Amino acid sequence: MASLSSSHISGRSSVAEFPKLRRLGFRGRSSRVGFRVFASDTQPEPDLSVTVNGLKMPNPFVIGSGPPGTNYTVMKRAFDEGWGAVIAKTVSLDAAKVINVTPRYARLRAGANGSVKGQIIGWENIELISDRPLEIMLKEFKQLKEEYPDRILIASIMEEYNKAAWEELIERVEETGVDAIEINFSCPHGMPERKMGAAVGQDCVLLEEVCGWINAKATIPVWAKMTPNITDITQPAKVALKSGCEGVSAINTIMSVMGINLDTLRPEPCVEGYSTPGGYSSKAVHPIALGKVMKIAQMMKAEFNDKEYSLSGIGGVETGGDAAEFILLGSNTVQVCTGVMMHGYGLVKKLCAELKDFMRRHNFSSIEDFRGVSLEYFTTHTDLVRRQQEAIRQRKAIKKGLQSDKDWTGDGFVKESESMVSN
Ligand SMILES: Cc1cc2nc3c(=O)[nH]c(=O)nc-3n(C[C@H](O)[C@H](O)[C@H](O)COP(=O)(O)O)c2cc1C
Repeated sequence: MASLSSSHISGRSSVAEFPKLRRLGFRGRSSRVGFRVFASDTQPEPDLSVTVNGLKMPNPFVIGSGPPGTNYTVMKRAFDEGWGAVIAKTVSLDAAKVINVTPRYARLRAGANGSVKGQIIGWENIELISDRPLEIMLKEFKQLKEEYPDRILIASIMEEYNKAAWEELIERVEETGVDAIEINFSCPHGMPERKMGAAVGQDCVLLEEVCGWINAKATIPVWAKMTPNITDITQPAKVALKSGCEGVSAINTIMSVMGINLDTLRPEPCVEGYSTPGGYSSKAVHPIALGKVMKIAQMMKAEFNDKEYSLSGIGGVETGGDAAEFILLGSNTVQVCTGVMMHGYGLVKKLCAELKDFMRRHNFSSIEDFRGVSLEYFTTHTDLVRRQQEAIRQRKAIKKGLQSDKDWTGDGFVKESESMVSN
């Protein structure tokens, strides 16, 4: 549960106090009222390109931090297949402290009572951040930026509650030439005893302090990746933006227990007879992620300048439609992690094609044309009741016919008068 003093949540954001020289070329939604062609045969190809915090991407599809960004070979593969950007697996200063176990994944299948034939809808992992030496990861970032200077590579970082450690990590990561940094404030199972990941992201006081250190040091855009394992996700998101971050990413995995083996009575994934709660991802988390992103987007719209800040939607994306939903709720980019693990890097081609189909159907020519447009259709339950009562009243009035003589039009006197009789 977040702890947040009122001073953290009041007032408008300003990054002025952070001495950074960041690329802030985010264009907002200037194209929304732009040129539209309605005849389908003359319709130009929808433009999927986005510019987020000054970073130009050919499409909004970003590899989410995790196994699909774990080394040079797979990140190169992602660029070659056409992903808009790649976020590498989270790194920290001392990889020797990161010790993974096997098995570390467990899957939930739809239908067939958990049979191996059912479609995978949920995925739990107890994987930690990268256990590869930082020097090697940094060398690979540098090589990728040399080979793909025009493509966007984002480093994901996580450190202990130690200012000097954060500063050293930021400096070393920036030296490689990466375009931005995503801060993993959200890993649910990773080393809370070292005050890492969600241990910071769930505590707004700690978060404000750590974001302050990070943003005082960083010279490239910083995105704060939020944990959904908190009562109100808008609170840490607000703290991160007020503390100088340019963007928010949401969500990381949801704390879960995948299941209990009913023969052995042991929880899954089972490591030497024991388990630990893990992080849930894939299709099953998509509605929850949409709910969290919607809340953050509403908060950002109300309290932050849309042109300076960005939102990256994450959770259960496997189709262009899934991505369109995140964008309709205000996301600038959409990250995919488990979807790539299940379907491979070529998934981006299907995502782009399906997103373009959606855009053609609605005559949207750019991502900004529809970003955030569904937000206005959310209201309170009280307002839903009022709207429904009003709609029922209007439908009844139409059914009942004319209310009084003054409503007569003169077309069909008998019919009009009879409709009044039934009133
Ligand atoms: C196996 C696995 C490892 C992950 N490792 C990281 C990580 O190192 N850093 C991070 O920020 N998120 C990590 N994530 C979280 C994903 O980036 C993403 O936020 C989450 O899985 C929800 O998106 P998805 O449904 O597309 O996977 C990991 C997810 C999985 C499944």
